[in-house]
Amino acid sequence: MRIDIISVLPELMESPFRTSILKRAMDKGLAEVHFHNLRDFGLGKHRQVDDEPYGGGAGMVMMIEPLDLCISELKSQRNYDEVIYLTPDGETLNQKIANSLSIRKNLIFLCGHYKGIDQRARELHITKEISIGDYVLTGGELAACVLADSVIRLLPGVLNDEQSALTDSFQDNLLSPPIYTRPSEYKGLKVPEVLLSGNSKKIEGWLHDEAVKITQEKRPDLLD
Ligand code: ADE
Repeated sequence: MRIDIISVLPELMESPFRTSILKRAMDKGLAEVHFHNLRDFGLGKHRQVDDEPYGGGAGMVMMIEPLDLCISELKSQRNYDEVIYLTPDGETLNQKIANSLSIRKNLIFLCGHYKGIDQRARELHITKEISIGDYVLTGGELAACVLADSVIRLLPGVLNDEQSALTDSFQDNLLSPPIYTRPSEYKGLKVPEVLLSGNSKKIEGWLHDEAVKITQEKRPDLLD
């Protein structure tokens, strides 16, 4: 999978891709992430990328020309499955969206800034709009990292068996059951007997029952 991320602040996103599991995915060639500084496509001497909104109002708007130039250049090099705009008014990211993107080959993520992008950029290029939650960030960069992380970890070979994404919360609409490691007792708090029993059938049943119980308590909407 290849992800091209367009931003006015690409340096904000470097470290998540240089560390741990995402780094390993890149080193193994399972994912490629390329950053594009929108300012390289900015207009004039000052490489302008934003301007005041028509009709007035606070905040600046990301201009159509730099966005169109940057996205068109990428599109001339390969076919993209989706051009995704990270924005608080997009569809809220969930595991189903991450799963569906993880089987795509080439993706563009566009990070919004200021008040947002000129509407015509949406009409010309954007195929999907994604929000990471009902709150407003200073820009789309952190949201792009969250989206990339949720997708890249699902690529075959990125996680090992113990980390398998198939047992994640949400993959079967259930939250994860409680987990424990040594010691079996700490400050009087004991690991449930069944987990020490060695009876894998019983353990599996218990884990499933706990997952359903926790989901009922915390996220009953997932069971609907
Ligand atoms: N940009 C600013 N806030 C955002 C959010 N919640 N999700 C995605 N992009 C954003």
